[in-house]
Amino acid sequence: MAEVLKDIPQSHHPDLLVGYNKADDAGVFRINENQALVQTLDFFPPIVDDPYSFGQIAAANALSDVYAMGGKPLTALNIVGFPSSDMPPEILTEILRGGNDIVEKAGAVVVGGHSIKDNELKYGISVTGIINPYKIITNTEAKVGDRLFLTKPLGTGLITTGIKKNIVNPELEKIVTVQMAQLNKKPSELMVEFDIKAATDITGYGLLGHAYEMAKASNITIRLFSKKLPLMPYAVELAEAGMIPGGALANREFLEGSVQISPDVDENIIVVMYDPQTSGGLFIAVPEAKVKDFASELESRKIFGQVVGIVERAGNTPIIVE
Ligand code: CO
Ligand code: CO
Ligand code: CO
Repeated sequence: MAEVLKDIPQSHHPDLLVGYNKADDAGVFRINENQALVQTLDFFPPIVDDPYSFGQIAAANALSDVYAMGGKPLTALNIVGFPSSDMPPEILTEILRGGNDIVEKAGAVVVGGHSIKDNELKYGISVTGIINPYKIITNTEAKVGDRLFLTKPLGTGLITTGIKKNIVNPELEKIVTVQMAQLNKKPSELMVEFDIKAATDITGYGLLGHAYEMAKASNITIRLFSKKLPLMPYAVELAEAGMIPGGALANREFLEGSVQISPDVDENIIVVMYDPQTSGGLFIAVPEAKVKDFASELESRKIFGQVVGIVERAGNTPIIVE
């Protein structure tokens, strides 16, 4: 979207705190001294066969951009494209039920929506959340010395590609489905408690693409530790088997020249780092002084998360992988 919008100047408004010119996760608009709205939307065609799971995943994915900024989701609207003549309406019911359950889990409420006839099924939600205007977490505030935590393992693009090619077993399909339907609510709440300033969520641009956006926006370099990345089961094997989504290739092409990778990093791990994630984890820049407490709080609350990199002064490339 940023690519298309770049030729349309962002309108100025005194209460627009985060607009689309900043390539951040969601837009933020102040409504009074202490409150601002966080707004975002996302929708896409099914990535798993089960309609209820698809609804859950699409909703969790859209809600993630509110969580990435430290916001609290309030309301959601359904966005539906449905091939009404050649698909039973029960499928749509199941999708909406899945979406509704996840929105409820987020503590928000579905207030309506809109559907159109569409040759290809599509579903997603728009989300409105609320945030303290002084506590907006963006990708522009990463500082030298910050440790970078990632709160979900990587590999959903490779696995869902494997599912489409029928080479993924039902257990792995279950694991990836559960992970993608998982909300980023808990790590987001922890970020707010720790007064974290910089984060984003890992979605279509993959770990490297979103790290790149943060590095550019914060004017720093991000060093990633390839041996410390959390990986989904069989992600590496699927990369090796060539189950590489088109998005991973596009991400790699886009980042050509912006990523410096040491020669000893395994090629399949590199593929995983470019892999587009659906409803991926939060990528959180935690100041050095808070790292120990943040890590132990993650552990005691049973929230997944590990350090995958560090913020350095801006160097020759925005990203270094070792
Ligand atoms: Co995002
Ligand atoms: Co988004
Ligand atoms: Co309407």
